[in-house]
Amino acid sequence: MTTARLDRLLANLGYGSRRTVQQLAASGRVVLDGQPITDASRRVPVGPDLPARMTVAGAPVDPPAPLTLMMHKPLGVVCSHKEEGARVYDLLPARWRARDPALSTIGRLDKETSGLLLITDDGPLLHRVISPKSHVPKRYLADLDRPLSGDEAAVFADGGLMLEGEDKPLAPAVLESVSPTRAWLTIHEGRYHQVRRMFAAVGNHVTALHRDRIGGLALPDNLPPGQWRVLAAVEISNIFTGC
Ligand code: URA
Repeated sequence: MTTARLDRLLANLGYGSRRTVQQLAASGRVVLDGQPITDASRRVPVGPDLPARMTVAGAPVDPPAPLTLMMHKPLGVVCSHKEEGARVYDLLPARWRARDPALSTIGRLDKETSGLLLITDDGPLLHRVISPKSHVPKRYLADLDRPLSGDEAAVFADGGLMLEGEDKPLAPAVLESVSPTRAWLTIHEGRYHQVRRMFAAVGNHVTALHRDRIGGLALPDNLPPGQWRVLAAVEISNIFTGC
């Protein structure tokens, strides 16, 4: 079990400066296993059970790093810190924006794409999920402007499709049609606007896009748009099952 100084732990979780946290502890409002910790220089055990053991001002402490969440990204919010508009981070508790290490999305979904989005402060996990070497499949449901011609599955499976402005062909992708204007598309890469550009390359246009699966992890039916939850270790390893 790792340990950390209480002041450093709570400052890194966004509860305020080391000084603020020292005052909070001195006032008796940080409680571990039922006992107030008034000396913020004390080392405390840090693990996934911390929120069950520690309260801050009467509420369970925020989950410590490493922290990974799944979110049902709603339409109309952006993943990038640089873009204008409401961000996926605004849907999380305000204090979490001050966490160190910071939370980042694992890959991105466009503003007008909904569905499964992973958010983590675990750098090695992030790189493992997005690395092309990991071959983690991502499944999208695309609604299309025009009926499928019937050739798309072969074109996408071929592995030679070149997107406009790029010099490296796409890896093979799997298309399964649901109706003439709706299809599942499973890709193993994460190029910019990839799904929309793939359909554009075969003369179609995506009118709605939703991601329901990353590797072996599916968006649960009971997680409505805008909602999120912390992932358990077993769910994180599920991402890589079958890859
Ligand atoms: N492909 C897209 O075009 N948009 C996304 O958000 C994800 C994949």
